[in-house]
Amino acid sequence: MSDLDQLRADLIPAIEQAPALDALESMRVSALGKQGSITALLKTLGGMTPEQRTSEGPRIHSLREAVTDAIAARKAVLEADALAAKLAAERVDLTLPADMPPPGGVHPVAQVMDELAEIFADMGFAVATGPEIEDDWHNFTALNIPETHPARAMHDTFYVDGPDGERRVLRTHTSPVQIRTMTSQKPPIRIIAPGRVYRSDSDATHTPMFHQIEGLVIDKGITLAHLKWTLETFLKAFFERDDIVLRLRPSYFPFTEPGVEVDVGFTWIKGKRVIGGDGNAADGGWMEVLGSGMVHARVLENCGLDPNEWQGFAFGTGVDRLAMLKYGMDDLRAFFDGDIRWLKHYGFGALDVPTLSGGVGA
Ligand code: PHE
Repeated sequence: MSDLDQLRADLIPAIEQAPALDALESMRVSALGKQGSITALLKTLGGMTPEQRTSEGPRIHSLREAVTDAIAARKAVLEADALAAKLAAERVDLTLPADMPPPGGVHPVAQVMDELAEIFADMGFAVATGPEIEDDWHNFTALNIPETHPARAMHDTFYVDGPDGERRVLRTHTSPVQIRTMTSQKPPIRIIAPGRVYRSDSDATHTPMFHQIEGLVIDKGITLAHLKWTLETFLKAFFERDDIVLRLRPSYFPFTEPGVEVDVGFTWIKGKRVIGGDGNAADGGWMEVLGSGMVHARVLENCGLDPNEWQGFAFGTGVDRLAMLKYGMDDLRAFFDGDIRWLKHYGFGALDVPTLSGGVGA
């Protein structure tokens, strides 16, 4: 065997069995590098006679090619193995539970506001808002509650100083949004206004801040019948029951004429009041849920509307109270304590969608 054949017989099997990329690389350097065995052979070509070169040149070049090819082939195999090993080692198990922070939830008040917005949107109502720091005119005067009116004493108002030195109030109800809507857009109007309101009051059923939702409809030829239908449709959708019975009682609100308090019938079931059924039944009773009435002519006039042309109705109720009635909570203060256990129990998943037919999270 010639030197060349010997070298080939040594190199090729070694390359083909190179155990790893770094071993293969040192084989490449010792054969094809500057001081490599094949490089040395190539250098000898320069000192050969033309005849020798003609016979030896192709053999040396063919050996170099064979070695180069063998290295490339082995390298591809070793790289593929390395990649496969890496993929196996770094495999992600998608079935493992993710390491996530505890999920947040939707507060029952926010959830109920969403439910209300959805129910009223179906009836063509838009959502309106107003500031929580109100002026006297919007909160009282325009609503037909003048300075000296005894009705002002009905609200335990928080007062604050305005930047202009004028007194402001933390709105005591959402009714000022009625005024803001009627003075900023032309009828026909159909809005609801959910939001925070404030009264200096605190016990198991009163907190200094609570939530109301206002409704206002202004159009031509609106009557008490429209009011009754709207409230009945709303309460049926909200409580997800068809057997909702309403009782309308005459009442007094300075901004309505007539004013109407709305009771809903409930049934005693295992010592609990459950909304639904005729309140006059032997096992029934009535619960007040809403204040409402036809918008007072003077309120329309205060907003620049002619009461001979436009009529309407308004209603207002407590969102927290609606939530308590629907989801069976008994202490209003718990709504604002921020107790994580209460929130976990009564809160809603972020992806729970209020539905009108199936209830929450159906
Ligand atoms: N604003 C009244 C309250 O807070 C509720 C109400 C609204 C009554 C609209 C009639 C019409 O008690």
